[in-house]
Parts: sequence; structure tokens; C-alpha cells
Amino acid sequence: MHQKRVLLIIGGGIAAYKALDLIRRLRERDVRVRAILTKAGGEFITPLSVASLSGEKAYTELFSLTDEAEMGHIRLSREADLVLVAPATADLMASMAHGIARDLATTALLATDKPVMIAPSMNLQMWSHPATQRNLRTLEADGVLRVGPGSGDLACGEVGDGRLAEVMDIVAAVEGFFAGAVAAPGPSRPLAGRRALVTAGPTHEPIDPVRYIANRSSGKQGYAIARALAALGADTTLVSGPTTLPDPPDVFTVRVESAREMLAVCEASLPVDVAVCVAAVADWRVEDDTRQKIKKNGGRPPTLKLVENPDILAAIAGRANDRPLLVVGFAAETEQVVDYAQRKREKKGCDWIVANDVSPETGIMGGDSNMVHLVTADGVEDWPRASKADVAARLAERIALRLGETAA
Ligand SMILES: Cc1cc2nc3c(=O)[nH]c(=O)nc-3n(C[C@H](O)[C@H](O)[C@H](O)COP(=O)(O)O)c2cc1C
Repeated sequence: MHQKRVLLIIGGGIAAYKALDLIRRLRERDVRVRAILTKAGGEFITPLSVASLSGEKAYTELFSLTDEAEMGHIRLSREADLVLVAPATADLMASMAHGIARDLATTALLATDKPVMIAPSMNLQMWSHPATQRNLRTLEADGVLRVGPGSGDLACGEVGDGRLAEVMDIVAAVEGFFAGAVAAPGPSRPLAGRRALVTAGPTHEPIDPVRYIANRSSGKQGYAIARALAALGADTTLVSGPTTLPDPPDVFTVRVESAREMLAVCEASLPVDVAVCVAAVADWRVEDDTRQKIKKNGGRPPTLKLVENPDILAAIAGRANDRPLLVVGFAAETEQVVDYAQRKREKKGCDWIVANDVSPETGIMGGDSNMVHLVTADGVEDWPRASKADVAARLAERIALRLGETAA
């Protein structure tokens, strides 16, 4: 992002303080940041902090004789490659949607001829209010780009949608934009033309014709990811172990039982652009699963000899000629979650690991929410607890951004 210029508009939301970190992160990436602070934004952070971090004057006034003489709101809005509104308040979104130009921020937004990206942040009710959703649709139809909001604990004490996207996600969205990933305006399908493979659920490893070894995976997270990838336009294949879930819409679903069957279907589904291995594949299977039911016969209990199953994640990540561009694994751990995940990423040769703590007290295994850490070559991101659908949507967006960096 060498020498790209971002005009950052900081709205008057409780998350305004995060704009300071955002400025730092963008500048670390060699982005020139010039900021406009709304009057309400100035109630949360000072122009001095903004100016110190951006290394430029922080602009606040529309009717500033000096600024208008030196620069002017029109030039301010145009001397940027991207206008980024973070946090985007409900009020700013409403003004933008209706073309209201009542102060420097909204005037610059109306006067700009550059792409605009918003990172909304507000209370759950404000976000879900029909007026805000209506404004959002208007903005998307106008070609405004969006990152977030995320889901999780809100400053007002409520839990749900409306949380400012994580700073690094905003940075990734900006990077994606400059890499050309988000060039298409409107509600986009950035994964159109891409192929995705997702594994989900447990596997059943037969002991005999009526018994098997299984695990507690419900398949919910993997199904949600397949749905989210398909919603972004990916041609998605879901290879599912035994679950009680219905096939997700718009996803080609193949049902399998054992790890070996799952691997065979996965390999037959290649090539794909992205593989997300969410399934809780049994590590071991019984060496000699018998064709007949094992009888009690009054003797000693049978001894089951276990042998290792194929490692599907490592097998896909290690493909010589048709390795997916992006291979994502899941690591369900009950202790040292991030530590194990980092080691797993290296051992399996995959690009990202999504790690979660599945200790019984978390309620994650089989539950509807998840709290994950995204482990990449660049480090670890801790994502807030969110519904499995929201985790899936966020992961799918990240995948779209990453794939956007490589031509389809
Ligand atoms: C303590 C406090 C926190 C607020 N947080 C938010 C917020 O997170 N999101 C939002 O849209 N509005 C929030 N508001 C309301 C805005 O500050 C208010 O709508 C203001 O007019 C926004 O101005 P601006 O859009 O020009 O920045 C908050 C207000 C207060 C007093």
C-alpha cells in the first residue's frame, strides 16, 4: 500500500478511540492518513491525538478560513485514494444515504469522487433499526464498500451485531481494496468464479456392522462456513460426516461416514481455490473392523487395535500439483489452544488455523456460538465470541479478501 492516501472520517461513536490504532496500523503499512473528526467524534478523542498519530493536521471545521484558503473541503475529499469512515455512526450513514452535507465530514463525503468504505459501529438496536438497514441498502446500492460490523459484546452492555470490525480486519479490507479485491461496488459476490471445499461434522469409524467410534462434532460450524462461502458466490462442495443437519442451500453436499471416505471425496473434488477443513476427523480407526457383529460369548471383552487414519488437512495442504491457493484448518483443543494451533499450522502445512477451545464448560461443541483465534503466518487474532453463522461470515469475508489478492 506504498504511499496510498486514505481520508479517514472519524464519527462520534464509542469506538472512536480505535481509530487511533487504525491510523497507526495504516501508517505502519506506508499509508498516508489524513483525518476528519466530526464534532461528536471530538467528544471521544482529541484532534491532538489524531494529528500526532497521523502526522497531519486533524480537520474538524467546515467553515475554517485557514483550511478553506489552504485546502478546501473539495480538495480534502479528492486528494485521497479511498475515503474510510471508521467508526461510521448511524448518523453518518443516514447523512450519506440522504446526501446531507451539514458539516466538514458529510460535505467531504458528498463532494468526493473517490471510493468510500464504511466500518459501522453502533448499538445493536441502532444497527438493526429498519431506518439504518434501509440506509445501508441505499449506501450499498450507491457502491459504498463496507467492513463489519462484527458481533459480540457491545460497549452498551448488550451482545450482538454492531461492533466495529476489528482494526486488523479494517486494515485487511483496505489492503484488499488497494489490491483490487473490493473494486466491484454494491452487494458483491467476491467469490464468484471461485471453487471452495469444506469438510464438516464427525466421522464414524466402524468397529463392526453395528458399532462405531464417533465424536461430539455437530457439523454446525462447517455447514455455516459452506453457506457463507456460497453466499459470497463460491461454487461450494461440502463433504459432511454423519450429522442431523439439512443440506445447506446452494451447496453441493456429499455425505460420507469414515475418514477414508471423506479423504477420497475431498481428493475427487480438487482442484479448488480454497479448502476449509472443519470436520472433526477421527484420528484412529479400528484395524480389523469385522463383517460380523462382535458377540459377547461370555469370554473376555474384545481388544480393539487402533491404527491411524489419513490426515485430510495435511493431505490437501501437501498436494503437489493441485494444492488449493488457501488451505484452512480447524483446531479444536481443550488446553493451550493457540500454542497447539500454531504448531498444527506448521506441522500440517496449511495457511491458516482457526482454533477454538472445546472444553465442555465452553458449550462450543454442539452449541450455536463459537470463540475462535485465527492463526496465520502473520500472527494470532482473537475473535470475540459470536454465533457460528457470524464466525463463518467473517471467515468467508477474510477468505474473499485473501483470494482477491490472487487473480481468479
Ligand atoms: C456515549 C455515547 C456513545 C455513542 N456511541 C455511538 C455509537 O457507537 N454509534 C453511533 O452511531 N452513535 C453513537 N452515539 C451517538 C452519536 O454520538 C450521535 O448520533 C452523533 O450525532 C453522531 O455524530 P456524527 O455522526 O457526526 O459523528 C453515542 C453517543 C454517546 C453520548
